[in-house]
Amino acid sequence: MNLKPDVVVIGAGAAGLMCALTAGYAGRRVLVLDHANKAGKKILMSGGGRCNFTNLATQPANFFSANPHFCISALKRYRPEHFLELVERHAIEHVEKAPGQLFCVDSSRPILDMLLTECDWAGVGIHLKTEVTRVERCGEGMRLESSLGRIDSGAVVIATGGLSIPTLGATGFGYDIARQFGLAVTETRAALVPFTLTSQFKERVAALAGVACEVEVSCRGGRYREPMLFTHRGLSGPAMLQISSYWRPGDELVIDLLPGIDAFEALTEARRHTPKRRLSSWLGERLPKRLAQALVEWHGGDGTLAEQSNAELQAWRERLNAWRLKPAATEGWRTAEVTLGGVDTEAISSKTFEVAGLAQLRFIGEVLDVTGELGGYNFQWAWASGVACGLAL
Ligand code: FDA
Repeated sequence: MNLKPDVVVIGAGAAGLMCALTAGYAGRRVLVLDHANKAGKKILMSGGGRCNFTNLATQPANFFSANPHFCISALKRYRPEHFLELVERHAIEHVEKAPGQLFCVDSSRPILDMLLTECDWAGVGIHLKTEVTRVERCGEGMRLESSLGRIDSGAVVIATGGLSIPTLGATGFGYDIARQFGLAVTETRAALVPFTLTSQFKERVAALAGVACEVEVSCRGGRYREPMLFTHRGLSGPAMLQISSYWRPGDELVIDLLPGIDAFEALTEARRHTPKRRLSSWLGERLPKRLAQALVEWHGGDGTLAEQSNAELQAWRERLNAWRLKPAATEGWRTAEVTLGGVDTEAISSKTFEVAGLAQLRFIGEVLDVTGELGGYNFQWAWASGVACGLAL
């Protein structure tokens, strides 16, 4: 066992494996340590089991960070096409499910296998079920105490990810190490996460579990037009996951159930042309039937369109184009895909990912205060930061 590596990467996830194989190919002796019993658990779970491994349209604007410029350099140097080229070299079947969003055809497994194969080819040693109990500076290098024993190395890369889904091995280890070395950690919040509702709405909405429709949702300046899914617990689907990155406890969501249609104008027009038509039938043509029925039950007033006054149609515009809903909470770390916030990038080089004044210590991937929107951006950040750091080791 090589316990005198040039580099120790802590975390065998997306960023850690990418960094390790890059540094390995550059001739460094690399050891990856992870406390979990398997590498890349989040890769396997991702994209509904089919890993949305990148987004061809990745831009810095797709990321949240207190320092929005930080991600530019790495994203520019390692682009989605570079990762795609690797995927194609390994003959992994993939598909563009939505514009720019590349997924595996069958399962996420080949992406993890590809990374592990590349690590093997690059001579990287991976040790799972390994606890790291201490990280400290030691002369020009770093010293670790771990369940493998003491390890001295030239550099340590922290790639331990964020706090989401503790059952997949997530811990606050990276934040603790950052604080130990005097770095700030910005407020962390669960994001890309479904909402739960107060009991008043929960029962109503639970009856619609499984119903999905395209909506436009907004909150605090964020706005997304994507599908929404009613669940037994509340609201999910891409629209809700996306807006959760903007939402703060106590905030209201404004949901347009008929994006692109002014419900008052459309209903007034329909009243003129088809006055005998029932409101529920008009709604049922534009929304999933169960949702249309539920709306009429919740608000009452079904009847012919001719029976609807202008004031009633205005009220329907409010309900349909600007449904105001205050979620009780999000489902939190248990189901969140990512962590907003993290190690403050102020003291980190955006080119090498080293800590200012301590080049032996680096942070990459989700542990940093860089978080992508839904759609393959978070993996692109993991690959790009991993490669930039790996090349600079
Ligand atoms: P990552 O979390 O991948 O890896 C961290 C590693 O560090 C883990 O192996 C962990 O065991 C290890 N570790 C943690 N604490 C440690 C400690 N104390 N000691 C040793 N090891 C430790 N993104 C995307 O772009 N497309 C997608 O389709 C999805 N889908 C998705 C689904 C689900 C359910 C989740 C939870 C997340 C996603 N994501 C996603 C987000 C994506 O998975 C995430 O952003 C990246 O995996 C982050 O990569 P990192 O390598 O930074 O952390």
